[in-house]
Amino acid sequence: QVHALKGVEIGTLKLAVVTTAKYVVPPILSPFCKQHPNIEVRFIVGNRADIIDRMRHNRDDVYIFSQPPQDDNLVCTPFLQNKLVVIAPPDYDGPDNCDLKALMDHKFLLREYGSGTRRAIQDYCDSKGLVFPNSMIIESNEAIRLAVTSGLGLAILSEHTLAHTPPDSVKVLKVKDFPLVNHWQAVTVKHRQISLAAQAFQKALLNVE
Ligand code: PGA
Repeated sequence: QVHALKGVEIGTLKLAVVTTAKYVVPPILSPFCKQHPNIEVRFIVGNRADIIDRMRHNRDDVYIFSQPPQDDNLVCTPFLQNKLVVIAPPDYDGPDNCDLKALMDHKFLLREYGSGTRRAIQDYCDSKGLVFPNSMIIESNEAIRLAVTSGLGLAILSEHTLAHTPPDSVKVLKVKDFPLVNHWQAVTVKHRQISLAAQAFQKALLNVE
């Protein structure tokens, strides 16, 4: 027991998360690191495709995705919800309380291919036979949010990306089927022996409300 505890306290935690999860992880990491001050943490952030690539190369202990790849070698444990909402500039006065199709005349600011957010939006649009006639790719949640605030177009982003922003910097529209809801999942690869420190972090994730 003492030995196991020591293993937690001096171990390393190699964590790799998709970009939207970077809003979710720090508030969990902070108390965890205070509780285990000697654990060495390496925290990598990338889009879904980057993080899948890291996982295929067995680079990290714990991954966080909202849409893990289908793979029998993974252990996926859901924790918090992730909600995708439709946002518009603060002075937007176009259609609201409508379906997504009714908004398609507007320019949509979309994440790059390889983004999990983009994939969730694409899956929804495919299921409804919708395409964005007018869109722009911006490879950053923050840049998309700021571009929406400055009036460049509409976007669909995780609600997490709106935390800590001035309350009226964007307008969240009421759109049928939205928010699209999925769950954050802590993912480990079955054949990797993960550190005790990483196991302790996984437990901390599951205790989040
Ligand atoms: P992304 O992933 O940062 O690649 O968009 C977010 C997600 O998978 O929900």
